[in-house]
Amino acid sequence: MPDYQSLYRKYRSQTFADLVGQDASSRALQGAIVSGRVAHAYLFSGSRGTGKTSAARLLAKSLNCTERARDTAEPCNRCESCLAVTAGTALDLIEIDAASNRGIDEIRDLREKVNLAPALGPYKIYIIDEAHMLTEPAFNALLKTLEEPPAHVVFVLCTTDAQKIPLTVIGRCQQFVFRRHSEEQIVARLTHIAAEEKVAVDPAAMQLIARTAQGSMRDAVGLLDQLVPLATGPISLDGARSLLGIADPRLLDSLLDDVLAGRAAEALAELNRVYAEGAELRQVVRGLMEGCRDRLVGALGRHDQATARRLSGVLDALLHLDGEVRRHAEPRFLVEATLARLAVESEGVAPSVPPAAVRGETSSPRGEELPKPVPVAVSAPVIPVVGWSDVLEKLNRTVRAVYLDAQPEVDGSVLVLWFKYGFHHKKAQEQSSQLLPHVREWLGDDVKVDFRLRENDLPKAKVASPEDDPFVREIVKRFDGRVTRVKEISE
Ligand SMILES: Nc1ncnc2c1ncn2[C@@H]1O[C@H](COP(=O)(O)OP(=O)(O)OP(=O)(O)O)[C@@H](O)[C@H]1O
Ligand SMILES: [Mg+2]
Ligand SMILES: [Zn+2]
Repeated sequence: MPDYQSLYRKYRSQTFADLVGQDASSRALQGAIVSGRVAHAYLFSGSRGTGKTSAARLLAKSLNCTERARDTAEPCNRCESCLAVTAGTALDLIEIDAASNRGIDEIRDLREKVNLAPALGPYKIYIIDEAHMLTEPAFNALLKTLEEPPAHVVFVLCTTDAQKIPLTVIGRCQQFVFRRHSEEQIVARLTHIAAEEKVAVDPAAMQLIARTAQGSMRDAVGLLDQLVPLATGPISLDGARSLLGIADPRLLDSLLDDVLAGRAAEALAELNRVYAEGAELRQVVRGLMEGCRDRLVGALGRHDQATARRLSGVLDALLHLDGEVRRHAEPRFLVEATLARLAVESEGVAPSVPPAAVRGETSSPRGEELPKPVPVAVSAPVIPVVGWSDVLEKLNRTVRAVYLDAQPEVDGSVLVLWFKYGFHHKKAQEQSSQLLPHVREWLGDDVKVDFRLRENDLPKAKVASPEDDPFVREIVKRFDGRVTRVKEISE
């Protein structure tokens, strides 16, 4: 077996047809190749990981391919020249990484050699990657070459930051802008790669990767690459989430509910739970921003100015937090402090429209069906229970899942666990022998655990119907049945 090759290298586009998106640039380049009107200098600018370097190499390959048919720009990928470009050994393709070779020396060297004829093919192609990193003297030296380019030379400057390229240089180049990929384009590509690699990946997991990659095909393929060796079987949505450190959007949604409704203590408890599940704080903050943005769009659509103003304030604070979280080694307290502050500020200015209705409007942009949240009445003040997440961490995965839904409160020597769903409430009691030793370790041997169901506290009209419980829905779906009778269980 050859050495392990990362998926993103293995699946670098080797033909224009295999270059995803970038239709306008791709078509223009192919047209220039076929008609023999190739410019002396190109500037490929745009978002990272969208195919700039790939397209530059394709151009080089196509120009020096010895077997290419006249009416197509596609390289043959079989001739000696093509194989050398693919392998990275082509003498007539010179790649300069400006990020590590910023200096004048490389460009001087380039100026000396640029006039030498190509070694094998008709063209000598210089790819200057991360071109914005060149120093000013280097740019000046490059400019001299661009002013009188030898006929057999093609320059391709690639950059994610065209603003930093001097206008004098841009003026000498034909510029193509590479666009971010859509989630659909990314999912389609990942599906193709997964099929080639013979790994099963849940479509919802692909969707999650696509969203996380934020338009960068390289990031998306890189994330898939991380998942494949770690997964033991098919890659599920939950598996992808926990491996990528991404929180369940439903948990984030209810965290945002708490913050917006001014439930500071519950927000902190919810944050602890998300954290205990293994989510990365950066992803948590990003998830909250996404949720907030969705609701803001909803509020604007309803012309609900008050809510919109409030949400845009929260979004601002989250944006700031996002920047801070990146800088801190231990950002947990930062996130806690910000969410607590936002929640305290929200007290009394909670949105006039219940969050459920807001969410209904923007109807799940993530393509996931969210269970109708049970409106939780603001109950007696809850003490944020810090040690609870440590207890959760000590449980094994399946048992932990049962308790994740619990809101803990310590009341004297009693640990009260509130549950939103009857199924979890019941399961939690059945599994209590697994939980108790850890709780005793935490709160002492005399501690008692009281399991309570939140729904019972609510006025009847507010209680979600039993069909809305995710567990019931799952059963109904699996057995293709329906709920015919609901029996109240009195405690
Ligand atoms: N348009 C695309 N079609 C198919 N795969 C792509 C595309 N863009 C990027 N990729 C994937 O990402 C990898 C890196 O792409 P490439 O180096 O061309 O991106 P780039 O735009 O030059 O990125 P950077 O701005 O970071 O230099 C490729 O090997 C391929 O796996
Ligand atoms: Mg590149
Ligand atoms: Zn060829």
